[in-house]
Parts: sequence; C-alpha cells; structure tokens
Amino acid sequence: MKRILTGIQPSGTLHVGNYFGAMRPIIEAQERGEVFCFLADLHALTTLRDAEALRQNVRNAALDFLACGLDPERTVFYRQSDVAEHTELMWVLNCVTPVGLLERAVSYKDKVTRGLSANAGLFTYPVLMAADILLYDADLVPVGKDQKQHLEITRDIAVKMNEAYGEVLKLPEPEISEAVATIPGIDGQKMSKSYGNTLELFMAEKPLRKRVMSIVTDSTPLEAPKDPEGSTIVALYRLFATKEQVAEMEAEFRAGGVGYGHFKQRLFEAMWSYFAPMRERRAELERDPGYVDEVLRRGAERASDVAATTLQRVRTAVGLR
Ligand code: ADP
Ligand code: TRP
Repeated sequence: MKRILTGIQPSGTLHVGNYFGAMRPIIEAQERGEVFCFLADLHALTTLRDAEALRQNVRNAALDFLACGLDPERTVFYRQSDVAEHTELMWVLNCVTPVGLLERAVSYKDKVTRGLSANAGLFTYPVLMAADILLYDADLVPVGKDQKQHLEITRDIAVKMNEAYGEVLKLPEPEISEAVATIPGIDGQKMSKSYGNTLELFMAEKPLRKRVMSIVTDSTPLEAPKDPEGSTIVALYRLFATKEQVAEMEAEFRAGGVGYGHFKQRLFEAMWSYFAPMRERRAELERDPGYVDEVLRRGAERASDVAATTLQRVRTAVGLR
C-alpha cells in the first residue's frame, strides 16, 4: 500500500478553496493508501506571531478536517511540532542543502516581494518541508501547483543526502492536482486568505449569506441575458449543486429576467446544505473538549514511531551515533 503524505499550514481559517484544493483530495486518498496528514504549525511560525491565534488555528483546522471526513483511525493525523524529529532531520538536511537551491525558491521570493520580512525560517521553509516528507518515506505527496517547486527541492535534497551517505532517504513522487481548478473568491480572483476574499467553511449562516451576497458581478441589468461563463456565482455553484441544477442556472443566466441577487441566494442555499452534515458533525465534536487533543496526541504517537526509525537511520548514516 502506498504511503500518501501531506501537510497544511494552520495559518488562518480554512475556506472553500482549501476544502476542494487540499482537504477533499486527502480525505479521498484514505480510500487508496495509508495517509499521513499533519498540521504544519512550525511552518506557520514563519509568518504568524500570535501564540493564541496559532493554537486556535491548529484546533480549528483539526476540527475542520475531522468534521469533513478525515478518519483518525485509518489516517495518522498529527501536529508537526509534536514530533520533534522534524526539526532534527531538518538540521541534517540543512547541512547538505546548497543555499543557491533555496535562493531559487519562487515562494520565498514571492513572500519577500509581498513585504514579509525575510527571516531565516522563511528562507529554510523548503528544508523543513523536505524533512516533513523524507522522515516518513512517503511514496506520494499530493499538493497544489504552488507547491510543485518545493517538492522538487525535497527530491534534490534527498539526492544530495544519498550521494553523500548512500541510500538513506526515499525519493517521493509529487502528485500535482492540475485537475483541481482554482476556486475563485468573492472578488473573482483566486480564493486566498491573503486576498480577504474567502468563504470560510464553517461560517455562521448570517455572515456567510452576507459574504455570498457580496460576490462581485458586472452591471448587467436584471432583465438582460447574462454570460454564465466566467461568472463567479456559476463557478462556485458548480461545486455544490447537481449537474441539472447548474444547467438550469446557466439557462436562466442566458435567458435574462433574473437578477444576480437571486442567483446568489441560490448559491448560498446550495453551499449551506452541502456543508450541513459536516457542520453538524463539527458541532458534535466540539462538545467534547478533550477529543481533538486526544486525536492529535494519538496521531503524534503513531507518527513518532515511524519518524524515530528514519531518524535513527539518518543519525547512523551521518555519524551522529
Ligand atoms: P491561502 O491561499 O488561503 O493562503 P494556502 O496557500 O494555505 O491557502 O493553501 C492551502 C492548500 O489549499 C494548498 O494545497 C492550496 O493548493 C489549496 N488552495 C488554496 N486556495 C485554493 C483555491 N482558491 N483553489 C484551489 N485550491 C486552493
Ligand atoms: N507548504 C505546504 C503549503 O503551504 C504545507 C506543507 C508543509 C506541506 N509541509 C508539507 C505539504 C509536506 C506537503 C508535504 O501548502
């Protein structure tokens, strides 16, 4: 059975883009492999400097994943910082990683261009990510397109280690989900917490309705025909409605006579009922305050078993013991 591993940064509240782009693929992966899924709180530290917010984000992200169908019996689900081996392996990897490799990382350059301070954590982010993956001898790493280069760096680092010390680390295969379309946010750009245009997964009814109603549209008058292609409303509706419902909305767009406000209402209803079972499950899980802690504790234990074995191999190979 293939080992499938992925991480998600708990640096904000999870949104519809995260759900379709990252959460659902990993939840579905449970059907075809042995899944390792972790909350990358050490990575989040590169940009988040608020202890309480980080703790809350981890807790909320864990609840979101569990509510959406992550099964902690089958899947090893843990918090990165609970498994100390990540940072130790990172140090060893640092020592074989050429600085030039990291200087070419697009995501680092992007973040600095966007005005984030260039701390060393941001710079060595890909080395920690390599450690996350190599520590578990992962076969497959499903990630979005934006993470493709980081996976190439992971493989480069593994090759460097193996050249220096023999076959110590296993090279993972990326699984880039080109098929997962980029989900648009309420302003039509890529939905992203950094653009403030998200629809959060478990927002309360009133604020969510308000967000949906504020989706940006053109100024085509109510009675005029409208183009469903390129409409953010239709693009989002496709995620939540049946084929027939989508076809119906598209036909009404083209026919004219119905305003955008009406379509937005329908989108809201579809999204609200799509997430209804997960919302219920989340509320249930929240009622047991110890549950998430226990799941993550147990996950860290299982992850540590694997991580310790790999790290032992590495320590022996490099001469630390
Ligand atoms: P954000 O852009 O909100 O900061 P992240 O970069 O933390 O989100 O993304 C976490 C995961 O969610 C990644 O795997 C990414 O590919 C996926 N993802 C984020 N936004 C979208 C989107 N708009 N459409 C599809 N997938 C997305
Ligand atoms: N960098 C990834 C992101 O921002 C998160 C991540 C950290 C990750 N470590 C990982 C993803 C290891 C896959 C494997 O989306």
